[in-house]
Amino acid sequence: MKNITIRDRAFTPFISYDKIEVRIRELARRVNEDYADREPLFLAILNGSFMFAADLFKYLDISCAISFVKLASYKGTTSTGTVVSLIGLDESLKNRDVIVLEDIVDTGKTLSNLLPSIEEHNPASLQVMTLLNKPDARTHEVQVDYVGFDIPNKFIIGYGLDYDGLARNLRDIYQLME
Ligand code: IMP
Ligand code: MG
Repeated sequence: MKNITIRDRAFTPFISYDKIEVRIRELARRVNEDYADREPLFLAILNGSFMFAADLFKYLDISCAISFVKLASYKGTTSTGTVVSLIGLDESLKNRDVIVLEDIVDTGKTLSNLLPSIEEHNPASLQVMTLLNKPDARTHEVQVDYVGFDIPNKFIIGYGLDYDGLARNLRDIYQLME
């Protein structure tokens, strides 16, 4: 693998697709065990998680469903502050075992707004899986149950993650060179 340039920025190889795939198989094996007697509904958060969701699903052998959703946030008038609505959700979350699928948890702001909005639908359970996690970037404490890779607080692209809308198609993950 070699360095690449996207727009004006240089990026260096960080996590190869081979390593990503090995880790995703491990995550899938854990879900297969943990949800063996249940039927989880995955909520894949677009756009970033589409590639992760597709690869993870190939290794799940339990009965399960998935819905791809976009988040729209607006300042609600409720006491909880920012309310997040799920665009594209076509299934009821009530009494479902919901697993949120994220590409990356950075500050934690997105999830800290999203999770209470999901709880309002009264799911039977709610867990979060993210392929990538930046613990050092956290400004909002959030629940994360399954993590693919803990990574340093540096900007990355590829495997679904974008810079200025580009680079989602790269099969390996690259890190910004500074
Ligand atoms: P958070 O709300 O700060 O946790 O960030 C959530 C979203 O920011 C992620 O779902 C990504 O879409 C985006 N994001 C955070 N870090 C990166 C990165 O290093 N590369 C690309 N997108 C990122
Ligand atoms: Mg995202």
